[in-house]
Order: sequence, then structure tokens, then C-alpha cells
Amino acid sequence: MEYTFPVTRTTSPKAKPDEHALGFGKYYTDHMFMMEYDEGQGWHDGRIVPYGPLSLDPASTTLHYAQMSFEGMKAYRNPEGRINLFRPDMNAARLNRSNRRLCIPEMDEDLFISAVKAVVRADEDWVPSVPGTSLYIRPFIISPEVSMAVHPASRYLFLIILSPVAAYYEGNENELHGSRIWVEEEYIRAAVGGTGFAKCGGNYSCGMIAATEAKKQGCEEVLWLDAKEHRYVEEVGTSNAFFMIGDTVVTSSLTGSILPGVTRDSTLQLLRKWGYKVEERRLELAEVLEAAKDGTLKEAWATGTACVISPIGLLRYKGENYPINDEKVGEVSQHLYDVLYGMQTGKREDEMGNWVVTL
Ligand code: COI
Repeated sequence: MEYTFPVTRTTSPKAKPDEHALGFGKYYTDHMFMMEYDEGQGWHDGRIVPYGPLSLDPASTTLHYAQMSFEGMKAYRNPEGRINLFRPDMNAARLNRSNRRLCIPEMDEDLFISAVKAVVRADEDWVPSVPGTSLYIRPFIISPEVSMAVHPASRYLFLIILSPVAAYYEGNENELHGSRIWVEEEYIRAAVGGTGFAKCGGNYSCGMIAATEAKKQGCEEVLWLDAKEHRYVEEVGTSNAFFMIGDTVVTSSLTGSILPGVTRDSTLQLLRKWGYKVEERRLELAEVLEAAKDGTLKEAWATGTACVISPIGLLRYKGENYPINDEKVGEVSQHLYDVLYGMQTGKREDEMGNWVVTL
């Protein structure tokens, strides 16, 4: 079922940014989607309004206890000039899984998808077409409820904002490069039983300290290890991690502390379809480092909506560097990027049949 929403158009449209200098999250479009939830009434009054600041009471619970959830998705301009979304049903389902964990009311998945489509249509002239760019879509839920008590709120706000973006890792929109990754030994991202599998702000704020250290060490991102033993590799920064050891591609199984990424799932499905040996299992850091040393670690890459496929060129652990594939972009990473981004932008056929949704 497709829902429709009233649209109030802005009277002062912004100048569009230069598509060759978008960066990531620097610019926002003219409109946003907004909808309220009230206990007893459910989600109501979905509408598209001019993009602008929110008025929130300083005692709003989200500001203090971080009861919030969010999603990340993208819209792409296809060669016919129309707009493609990529597997929006996956984001709708994941938002509800995050909501269940954060005690936020679930949302009809058709309502979520209709809202995304409606706001993207309202700002469709903002979807960039320069290679490597897209319109990043950020749906999120916060609570404006005024309270200092720690309990689930009874009022929420659902918003969708849109940002034309280039690659998450600067330069990757022109040509992929291998990122240098800092293996984090002290801090953790998530523990089993916590919120690691959910998309919520707290998972990201707690990682900033390690990312800051990584930058000091000349690395772009962090490789997270498991919380209990600091022994198994989990994720890379804000994305999932893949390692090709010999002829087998390995990624961490969904233990509860791993984010079930849409690009992770798409990568697994494509590799299996193409006949690669793929394993989802717990992967010891020792096995990865050993393979890097003896040359059997052929490639590694990160997957995410924001970063698409981002090759990993080197791991730095305990002051030692472990280059992968001479820090060059591997064939599998490049092929995955070309196929995925090609499908998303409609430049290649959707080889899975129903992943691309054209507006
Ligand atoms: C995404 O890949 O969409 C994410 O949510 C990562 C983001 C924090 C930049």
C-alpha cells in the first residue's frame, strides 16, 4: 500500500551546490518529511514541509538519554533521468528492529517506504548525477517528550532529511583507494546484549574516541574487535568488514553486536551468486594478521550505504603495519563496487531482479 502526504513547498529554494564538491553531509535539500507519534493515536500527520530547524524543549528525553533510531539509504539518478532507490524494504525492516530494541514504537513498513519516496520526489531535482555521487537519505526518530525520568517516551517525531553527497571517504568517488585502518585494542563499539545490531546514535558517539586516535595514527578508520575477548574482528568504523583469505570471503556472523548492513547482505548475495566461497563466522584477528603476513589475505574491504565498497589497504596493530595487496585496490572489491553502484545508478542491469526501485 502506498500512502500519500500533503506537501508545503518552500517559498525560498536554496541554490544547488556544485556537484563536483559535495563532500559528505555538508548540504541539505529544500524539504523534509515530518510525522508525529502519540500514545493511543499511533503515527499520524505525515507531511512534507520546508527544511528547517526544529523547536525542542531542552528537557526533551532524546537529548539526555539518546532514545533514538535512524537509517541510512540513498537515491540515485539513472541514465533516463529518473530516480532509483535501493532495497528500501531492508531499511524499513531494520528501523523496526532498532525501534524494538530502543523501546520506540514500530512503524508500518509501507508507511516508511511511502514517506521516503514522497520526500525524495519532492526534492528530486537535488539528486546529483556526477559519477560517485548520490542523495543520502537520513530517516530518524527522536522524542520531544519533556522528562528527566528514564523511561520510554509516549511521544515521538519521525523525520527524513536529504543530503546530496560524494563518497564517504574523500576521493573514492573518482577512484577507489585502500584505506589505512587502525586495529582498536582498548575501546569497543558494542557488546552482545547491547545495541550493536541496532542503528542508534549511541553506537556512533561511543566510537568517536577510537576514530580520533586512528586519525592521530595516520589511519582513516578503526577495526573494531569483539567486546569480551578483543579477539575477533567485528566491523570497520561505520561499516561491515570483509576479508578474502585464499579463495574464501569471510565476514563476521551477525552475533548481536554487528550491524546487519544492507550492503553487507547485498555483497553476500552477489558473491554467492557469482560462485565465491563465502563464510559468515567469527574471525580471529590472529588469523587475519597471519594471512596478511603470509600473503593469503588477498583483499579486504568495508561495506556500507554511505561508504558503498571501500577497500582496506593496510591494518595497523600494536605499532606494526600489515599491508594488504600492496595497498592496492583488489579485483573483487572493485568488481563489487562497479556492480553495486552500477545497479543502483541504473547503469547496469539489476541482476537480482527486485533490488532497484525506480520512482
Ligand atoms: C550508512 O552507511 O548509511 C551509515 O549510517 C553510516 C553513517 C553513520 C555515515
